[in-house]
Amino acid sequence: MFTVKPKEQLFDSTQAIVIGLYHENRHQQKVYQEINSALGEVLDEYVKHGDLSNDYKAVTKVYTLGRIEPKRIYVLGLGKKKELTRSSYIKAIGHLAKELKKDRITQFSFVLDSFVSDQFSEEEVSTLFAEATLTAIYDFPNYKTNNSKPPFGFESISVITDKPIQKALDEGHAYADGINTARYLVQLPGNLLTATDLAHFAEHLAHDLGLGIEILEKEDLERLGMGALLAVNQGSVEPPKMIVLKYQGKEKWEDVLGLVGKGITFDTGGYSLKSKEGIVGMKSDMGGAASVLGAMEIIGRLKPKENVVAVIPSTDNMISGSAFKPDDVITSFSGKTIEVLNTDAEGRLALADAITYAKHHGASRLIDVATLTGGVIVALGDWITGAMTNDQEYYQSFEEITKWTDEPIWQLPYLPVYQEKVRGSELADLNNSPGRKAHPIMAGSFLAEFAENTPWIHLDIAGTSTSDKEYDLGPKGPTGVMVKSLAAYILKGQK
Ligand code: BES
Ligand code: MN
Ligand code: ZN
Repeated sequence: MFTVKPKEQLFDSTQAIVIGLYHENRHQQKVYQEINSALGEVLDEYVKHGDLSNDYKAVTKVYTLGRIEPKRIYVLGLGKKKELTRSSYIKAIGHLAKELKKDRITQFSFVLDSFVSDQFSEEEVSTLFAEATLTAIYDFPNYKTNNSKPPFGFESISVITDKPIQKALDEGHAYADGINTARYLVQLPGNLLTATDLAHFAEHLAHDLGLGIEILEKEDLERLGMGALLAVNQGSVEPPKMIVLKYQGKEKWEDVLGLVGKGITFDTGGYSLKSKEGIVGMKSDMGGAASVLGAMEIIGRLKPKENVVAVIPSTDNMISGSAFKPDDVITSFSGKTIEVLNTDAEGRLALADAITYAKHHGASRLIDVATLTGGVIVALGDWITGAMTNDQEYYQSFEEITKWTDEPIWQLPYLPVYQEKVRGSELADLNNSPGRKAHPIMAGSFLAEFAENTPWIHLDIAGTSTSDKEYDLGPKGPTGVMVKSLAAYILKGQK
């Protein structure tokens, strides 16, 4: 996909050349001069008439009319060097990639020097370029029988530079693939992605990347007493799975980060049935699992010196004569008993057993990711992930990363008053739904009962896992949110 080519090959055969244009020093840019003179000063002519914009995100196409092999020059305006942030940079490149896609350009040369500044090194630009181009043009597969639009993908991208940046490109490529994997999984309908299918997917991933894998079958869950996950599965004809992936980057299996992802392949709400409006879209209730798998794909490829265990509880939440019901009392894997007040608060039940199991596998820190509550969408909308923690320092180290990855999170309070509510059951240790008030916090507080003393961060991605419109770095639909932050957190070796 990406090949590095020396500067002498700038005019070699591709469909297009892509250059960046900052506000500053336009004419000092060597590549600008080179292209300008090869094209008989046509760029200067554009500039003279105000047709070559260096405004942020402006894209100008210049036809080369046979003077050089590539048929077009794409000039991407980058604005003022000082004003460009990592976030705005990656969006600008995504925007450009979408333009190339519109024009069906499948091969092009990217002139790295023209994009570099004091703030953005060759390596950094290469990584974000690879990530942005491949995430921006992603298309979901569809099931149309007469699909008039053939699928689009870049075939070969030459990065023109004399610097050794292949590793940086590979890193961006891995990030993009992980993000797109999560998007792909979330988009799959519930009938085409059951817990069994998700387990198969994880097995393939583990096989391809050399990760450790363990799949607990229904009998295993029964033997181990994972009564919370089993309760959610009780009304289904599809068997549940507890999916475990392991990546060992340190000599010893210690200091292990546990990633726990909600893998509900379809959430009807159970007997606390969702409305006919609320139920549509519930195929995406395995978004947390998808984010964890996407992050594991990146980790498996880039091989950091860290230990990670991923645990995904998976089932659908269905209705039948055998389904669990409100008022049922169940016993979780931890031994804690739970009074079920709402079968639609199923995610926290499945996650409870997964969190306990992650600790059994040696997790000394935890992050859970889940499309957990509609309430978080009401509170924070669809661009900010709701978060909770039982360890402020740990939380801050992760929050720092989310600023870099531009996946904003916002902390919700975790306080004794909320603990009291989730512990407020006359019959059991806990109840799974104390009511409408503060329900995103109640869900997190419930999970905290299972994290116990292990440092824990909770990420509620109900709002952020899908986008209702197209954006610079992707299409409308599943976003793959948190793939990047989870992977970056591990790769940057944060504690
Ligand atoms: N999967 C839903 C949360 C959800 C809602 C995700 C909308 C994406 C979009 C979750 O299992 C659920 O049903 N939560 C309930 C909790 C309530 C019963 C306390 C909710 O948010 O209404
Ligand atoms: Mn639910
Ligand atoms: Zn759910």
